Amino acid sequence: MKSVRKVVIPVAGHGTRVLPATKSIPKELLPLVDRPLIDYVVNEAFDAGIDHAVLVTGRNKGAIEDYFDHAFELEAGLEGKKKTDILNDVRNTIPKAGALSYTRQQAPLGLGHAIWCARQIVGAEPFAVSLPDVVMDGNTGCLAQMVEHYKKTGGNIIAVERVAPEETNKYGIVAPKGEAVGALFEMSGMIEKPAPGQAPSNLAITGRYILQPEIFDLLEKTPRGAGGEIQLTDAMDALMKEQSFYAFIYEGVSHDCGDKLGWLKANIALGLKRPEFASKLKDFLDDIS
Ligand code: UTP
Repeated sequence: MKSVRKVVIPVAGHGTRVLPATKSIPKELLPLVDRPLIDYVVNEAFDAGIDHAVLVTGRNKGAIEDYFDHAFELEAGLEGKKKTDILNDVRNTIPKAGALSYTRQQAPLGLGHAIWCARQIVGAEPFAVSLPDVVMDGNTGCLAQMVEHYKKTGGNIIAVERVAPEETNKYGIVAPKGEAVGALFEMSGMIEKPAPGQAPSNLAITGRYILQPEIFDLLEKTPRGAGGEIQLTDAMDALMKEQSFYAFIYEGVSHDCGDKLGWLKANIALGLKRPEFASKLKDFLDDIS
């Protein structure tokens, strides 16, 4: 069985839910404490043993490429002022040469279309997909947990998280095949935003996937679906008729940073985990509440 060596990270969307912040900067560069969202997501993949990230970019997203490159004047300035700790932080953002590829989605025709744009770089091998506005927080990275399971099961794996039963109408929800036992189980389908009471489970799709390359042919044939966009979910539905799909309840929590409230909460949650900020941030939150 081929291992998972590449992750596709689509970054070509307009980020309308967080406007006007995203009017002139990419959503993926919004900061979470002191690093942009994309930094967390790329490093989660590298920590899972994945050695190549394919970023599907679009117009006005060039600053993302700059973030992962040297900033010579800045570095020289920090070096001259002997600000070694900051200089190291800045240099640590740069991945190994060749570890990132960029391809461009000329128009945001949907998540499915963005993934399809990466087909030539991924080739005929299994790959991961990470949505960059979903930042995972846990002891072990979500993708690392998924890759470990993939080594035993192969197939396709979708990360899921339990949500309140009355909130199923906000998420894509998976339908288990038979009884859902343990953290990893086979699934029979998924349904977009089912009404509470009509949902096949309360397990929501949360932005991490391991997929087989046959998804690319299916994406090519997938017509525009919900919102006039080419949906990854529609192609996964078609692939599920031919291959096994597993839902995986990972350990940890997700933060939806593509949403204003989610981004605010993520900053507080991650800030409270940082030893240098934790107690002062907590005091501040106690004072204002
Ligand atoms: P979202 O729907 O969350 O992102 O897609 P968006 O379109 O930027 O945000 P809103 O809904 O307008 O606020 C999930 C991920 O897929 C990418 C987005 O950049 C985001 O990271 N995406 C989405 C693309 O790369 N291309 C698309 O056509 C659509």
